[in-house]
Amino acid sequence: MDLSSVADQLDDEAADTRDVAAPRDRRSPSDADPLWWRSAAIYQIYPRSFADGNGDGVGDLAGVRHRLGYLKDLGVDAIWFTPWYPSPLADGGYDVADYTSIDPRFGTLEEAEALIQEALALGIRTIVDIVPNHISDQHPWFRAALAAGPGSPERDRFWFHPGKGPDGSEMPTGWESSFSGPTWTRTTNPDGTPGEWYLHLFTPQQPDLNWNHPDVRRMHEDVLRFWFDRGVGGVRIDSAALLVKDDTLPEVPENPQPGGHPTQDRDELHEIYRRWRAIADSYPGARILVGEIWLPDIHRFAKYLRNDELHTAFNFDFLARPWDAAELRASIDRTLAAHAPVDAPSTWVLSNHDVTRPVTRYGREDTSFAFAAKRAGTPTDLALGTRRARAAALLTAALPGALYIYQGDELGLPEVEDIPEDRLEDPMHFRSGGTDPGRDGCRVPLPWSGSRPPFGFSPPGAARPPWLPQPAAWSSLTVQAQDGDPSSTLWLYRDALRVRKALNGAPDTGFSWRSLGDGVLAFERGPEFLSITNLSEHDVELPDNAGILLASAPLRGGRLPPDSTAWLRTRRLPSRLRV
Ligand code: GLC
Repeated sequence: MDLSSVADQLDDEAADTRDVAAPRDRRSPSDADPLWWRSAAIYQIYPRSFADGNGDGVGDLAGVRHRLGYLKDLGVDAIWFTPWYPSPLADGGYDVADYTSIDPRFGTLEEAEALIQEALALGIRTIVDIVPNHISDQHPWFRAALAAGPGSPERDRFWFHPGKGPDGSEMPTGWESSFSGPTWTRTTNPDGTPGEWYLHLFTPQQPDLNWNHPDVRRMHEDVLRFWFDRGVGGVRIDSAALLVKDDTLPEVPENPQPGGHPTQDRDELHEIYRRWRAIADSYPGARILVGEIWLPDIHRFAKYLRNDELHTAFNFDFLARPWDAAELRASIDRTLAAHAPVDAPSTWVLSNHDVTRPVTRYGREDTSFAFAAKRAGTPTDLALGTRRARAAALLTAALPGALYIYQGDELGLPEVEDIPEDRLEDPMHFRSGGTDPGRDGCRVPLPWSGSRPPFGFSPPGAARPPWLPQPAAWSSLTVQAQDGDPSSTLWLYRDALRVRKALNGAPDTGFSWRSLGDGVLAFERGPEFLSITNLSEHDVELPDNAGILLASAPLRGGRLPPDSTAWLRTRRLPSRLRV
């Protein structure tokens, strides 16, 4: 499909009423498309909050299966599930008690298998979340390690260590957790005396695994095969740069040299991912490895993307930037330049289950983001934030590479900042002593329909309310409400994904900047397509305009207003266009 026919279709469909549950076409992804991941649109599902099928107030696989048509209609190529495994939920499921089954609150392994196939039949691949750095303290390995005591082989799979000081009462290192607080917890010996300490870069319920131990490597390689055998299209690797530690346990140097940090980005990691890549490559079709890698040095980051390691990794540099043309442009340039030598596609990520929703972030005076420095109670202009989030959605969708969409961003949901304290669950909040608002505010169950909570998240007559309370104001943001409104954010995302697919399928869609003045980010993707984002305070003229494909806000007298993005067909090659 070329861009001009997409544009015609967009016009026709503006008048259509849509059936959200009816998939448009049923092509299956084929193993003959080994490059699907290079430009895929990947939708992140946080299973507890997507859709509740059985009425217990918690999202589940039945809910997802029921809504697959919605995802097909949205136009995504893959879904990534944050952990769906049995878990005590000390950290929202990132404390995994069993990597090869499904938490009973979500359903069964058979349901997961059926879901993977049903999604595939709609052309949607599934990506599962693998959590290799740590494990739940309820996992049989850790329980056995505690029971077996100091010096036992069971403890070698973890980082048990005597404390410092004459009575061992000081932590073995002063390493800091990105969840605030200490990274070591002292154990109690079977006779009741104080014992060794164990390492946990996150909560005490998430003991770190020792990746020097062959059992740990073998277990994760088996887990990869387990899910690839079930037809998943890829794995997202949690905390991918943290697995290997310096076993001499030094303190963190003031300015660590590349690879010189005791718990981050150690060179030994690359060999682990080369083995994982060989496993992924032994399966038909492209089964991909996606790393969650927060690293300040983008060149170190790109090393993980060499062609025998990970396929892609989340680009958090862009996400962390403020709403500022120079900053965003510099981030895009840095990202593209760092990916080019390893021939890996960039990824564009506006949010996920760990970060403040873009509508809220971009509505504040300081629009930047840092993982461990979230803000609450800051004045927020949600109308402005929504304008910018819509503009950012088009900006990122036009960039070359893969696109990640966090559930609910396609509805323009804001961060929920007034969840009562006794309903909060996130350990980041509690471990910070309440200074960090935590991540619950971006994890509130989705509003699907109706005018009151649970907004169709749970079926009628549900036994329990949603596990986190939904704001009453979400009645105007439900899928149902937006479905009937062509100016809604949901329509914008659907249209954007359709144009994007045509764009990425077209030949010669290289990337080049156009200079349209200060505060304006304009770039071409090939001869026919121009994306313009106006971050200045003035309306901007649209050059070479042979037709608007899509705009995040209405134009003003043919000009693009501040905080909005337009996609144009350009006039530069008139012979190729049907206008
Ligand atoms: C990743 C996850 C986050 C989790 C942490 C520890 O950053 O995205 O949700 O808390 O790892 O597993």
